[in-house]
Amino acid sequence: MRLKPPSRDELDPIEVASRDEISALQLDRLKWSLAHAYQNVPLFRERFDAAGVHPDNLKSLDDLAKFPFCKKQDLRDNYPFGMFAVPKSNIVRLHASSGTTGRATVVGYTQGDIDNWSTLVARSIRASGGRKEHLVHVTYGYGLFTGGLGAHYGAERLGCTVVPMSGGQTERQVQIINDFGADIIMVTPSYMMAIAEEFERQGLDPRKSPLKAGIFGAEPWSEAMRREIEDRFDIDALDIYGLSEVMGPGVASECIETKDGPVIWEDHFYPEIIDPETGEVLPDGEKGELVFTTLTKEAFPVVRYRTGDLTRLMPGTARSMRRMEKITGRTDDMLIIRGVNLFPSQIEELVVQTEGLSAHYVLEVHREGVLDSLTIRVEHALSGTANADTAGKLRDRIKGVLGVSSVIDICEPGSVERSLGKAKRVIDHRKT
Ligand code: DLL
Repeated sequence: MRLKPPSRDELDPIEVASRDEISALQLDRLKWSLAHAYQNVPLFRERFDAAGVHPDNLKSLDDLAKFPFCKKQDLRDNYPFGMFAVPKSNIVRLHASSGTTGRATVVGYTQGDIDNWSTLVARSIRASGGRKEHLVHVTYGYGLFTGGLGAHYGAERLGCTVVPMSGGQTERQVQIINDFGADIIMVTPSYMMAIAEEFERQGLDPRKSPLKAGIFGAEPWSEAMRREIEDRFDIDALDIYGLSEVMGPGVASECIETKDGPVIWEDHFYPEIIDPETGEVLPDGEKGELVFTTLTKEAFPVVRYRTGDLTRLMPGTARSMRRMEKITGRTDDMLIIRGVNLFPSQIEELVVQTEGLSAHYVLEVHREGVLDSLTIRVEHALSGTANADTAGKLRDRIKGVLGVSSVIDICEPGSVERSLGKAKRVIDHRKT
């Protein structure tokens, strides 16, 4: 049995307000947020002054384009608390991301911020068909990562029963999902595949689990992966997006009635798409880098934060707010192999569609002399019959669709490292 979409009167009125109402609220809130950032965060004051702009210059939403950007390096340069806009005594929570390179980035929340965050994650779970009578099994990591606690507070706010499982202990995940009767799971898509495997290892059919929906995010995942998860578990798989610098999970989330890309909760975040090279704002529908300005954040406001995520903005469908296309990659994830640009998710799409292969894969890039080479290590499916023919088929499809030559290494189940959270899909030996 699947979950039912919320009826109109279960929604927050702003979710179905007119575009004019949404824009008017955004303009009011944007004025407040720019002034708050300017008055309380030296970085924003210096940047605005240097660019010759002042919060009073914002008369329309389009005027935001005159303001300078900020990016992840700014958080690192101001480590740990240099971009906080309220006294430390008003901060009730800190989160941080370790970052594979450089210093960690640290973000803070007031009680008001935690309230808004909980409301937005509750809204996201409701958009996935969740209601107070449901049991939500949270497998995102608890700790400095925003996934676990963000999901947890949202599920509680909706009135659900929350199981704070966190990542790991895969055997126990399966037992608890079954014994407690989880209706909804919140987890990274890559770890969901490890859970599927564990069901099968225990001789259980994942399609017979009590799960009805899954809310997946924190890493890119393809439409092919969505179909794979939905088929394996007989559930609806919804996409939730977010980033710690802007809040955490729940900046945008998909609706079960349409499953056509995460709806950006535009009453709290103002999105723009820019050309990553020139910084120029692009019209809705064009693909580029996603940029956010927070509209209500107290402790950690950001103005024109460059997310590095590549997508496009699309008109509202199930809600009045705009949607973003499912993210295919990040500016810094793009691989350039012999002059061809590609994202790991494009390879994923083709791997997952190939019969006999599992969704456990890793891309290895080498440089031999002056030439780059791409190896795709992928496990054959537990029940699969992958052979040289399968490898040939995948190699030809990758060449045909993406224009890149590759070596396909089909390996035994269990030989690709399992992630408990965000999967590491690329090992680039050119960088070591
Ligand atoms: O990953 C927050 C989160 C937790 C989102 C749980 C969804 C679920 P960070 O660790 O700061 O925060 O990483 C943010 O992860 O800029 C994207 O590149 C990527 N990302 C997050 N959600 C998605 C998604 C959390 N649904 C970075 N699709 C973002 C693709 C995603 N990429």
